Amino acid sequence: MTSLPNRKTLLRAATATTAVFGLAVGLGACSASSGDAGYHPQSVPAEAKGAEVTVVPAVAPTTPAQMPDVSGLLGQRLVTPDGIAARWTYLPGDEEFNRQLAEAVKAKVLDFSAAIGVDYKPQGMPVGSNLQERGCVSGSSYLEADKILADPALSAASGDQKLSVACDVFYASGPVLAQRLRFVTADGGGAVTGDETREFYTDLESGAAADTKGLLKVDDPAELYRTFWHFAVEEKYVDEKDSPVTDGDTDTTISDDLMQALLNDVQAVQFTDSGDVLVTAGTDYFRAFNSESEAEATQSAAQAAGQDANDTLTIKIPLEIASPYLSDLGVKVAQSYATPTAWAGTPAVPPGNVYTDCSLTPCVAVTFDDGPGPQTPEVLDILAKNQSAATFFLLGIQVQQYPDSVKKELEGGNELGNHTWDHKDLTTLNADQVHQEVEDTNKAIEDASGQRPTVLRPPYGAWNEQALTVAGIPAILWSIDTEDWKIPGTEKLIASAVDPAVAGDIILMHDIHPETVAAVPQIIEGLRGRGFVLTTISNLFKGDPPSDDVYYRQYY
Ligand code: NI
Repeated sequence: MTSLPNRKTLLRAATATTAVFGLAVGLGACSASSGDAGYHPQSVPAEAKGAEVTVVPAVAPTTPAQMPDVSGLLGQRLVTPDGIAARWTYLPGDEEFNRQLAEAVKAKVLDFSAAIGVDYKPQGMPVGSNLQERGCVSGSSYLEADKILADPALSAASGDQKLSVACDVFYASGPVLAQRLRFVTADGGGAVTGDETREFYTDLESGAAADTKGLLKVDDPAELYRTFWHFAVEEKYVDEKDSPVTDGDTDTTISDDLMQALLNDVQAVQFTDSGDVLVTAGTDYFRAFNSESEAEATQSAAQAAGQDANDTLTIKIPLEIASPYLSDLGVKVAQSYATPTAWAGTPAVPPGNVYTDCSLTPCVAVTFDDGPGPQTPEVLDILAKNQSAATFFLLGIQVQQYPDSVKKELEGGNELGNHTWDHKDLTTLNADQVHQEVEDTNKAIEDASGQRPTVLRPPYGAWNEQALTVAGIPAILWSIDTEDWKIPGTEKLIASAVDPAVAGDIILMHDIHPETVAAVPQIIEGLRGRGFVLTTISNLFKGDPPSDDVYYRQYY
């Protein structure tokens, strides 16, 4: 339960503002206080007065009878040697929703790591860890905490402290989709030490995304509760003559801390299929905001509804009353529940263009040089099938020959890089020659794909200050050289790419050698099996790396 700020301040602020509210809507349960010109209660629609806000039995979240059928999501999975196992999933094309999910997971990962004395850094797991299969396990976020902890698909195997994150995409209707994250922690003995659920909603139409609390109007969440408490409890259970308001109490300031405490005390916002809103908040709130007699009234109301008022109180609010207190997204979600329809469809955005945070999940950048070649489409198919992206460092002369492949590389969410026109050693050329090698290639790539490269791979990894300055884009070398051009044999090639990889590595291969193309499926699977996200150079460096410099890998 959330700790509330100074109780005395709370009581003084609350009693006064409750009174003002009563006056403002003409329900008159309390007398007015004076001197609070800064307080402007929201008005309640007239028709709402007839509708009823009621205290209802708490509704425990259960697995929806039918999970929505949503395809095309980009599943995530993070497993560490320190007891963390997390699953969540991204909605392609919804950057804000994905960012909020990643930040929720990251906050827990960092907290847990700090608690066990680990400085969190993303890292790959051992070869053969089988982490290819990612995203939510349907229904897992509704399981009992100890069942989550005991499931090897959801939790780390170690007997040490654990953090497990389970997820479900539990709602999808029209443009509205919701994902639930369940965070469970356990001590070394297996006892549950934390169990928290957060639900995130998004509306593809407006681009708005928020967790449960963001469904409420955030400008004055405190008033929301005062209002609902008033409707649900005070009118029915509080005797007017016991009203605690004291004339002359002018302390109506509601501090930011108090606002935050109240916001934190909302434990759930749920929706019924008639669009009613169920708000569950800690009863600390209801008690703190009212006199002892009102606290008793809260208890009576809760007991009448079969609730344990020592913990939380759930109230049901008809949508017409709730609307003014919901955010635009909140109204959209409530209306969506009232008029469900088929999922609008997952946007067709390729994995390389979906939100990626390489400081949370371990990333590597697979790079293919010297193409495109006749087998490049095969490589693109394998990447797409494995929800992965790569960077292609292209030769101008090859681009001229296979312009369609260049276009497909970009459409698949891969990155296009410049590998010069015809593979000359840039350190042997004068400035004009370097300019021509780089610029002709930039232009050919732009002509074929519509996009100009922002990264350069100098042939042979050979660079000097002149080459860097003239090219004007960063030189991206590599930290793992598979030496695939030596045709080392499939087994050796796979091992040289997969086994030594650490988060931030840049792996060098060529999509012009048949042996490489034949090994690519196992290389991708092997890297994903170790938990890596295969992403582009730009994602690895979180946007374009600064120009005029040379990079061999990224560090976290
Ligand atoms: Ni090359």
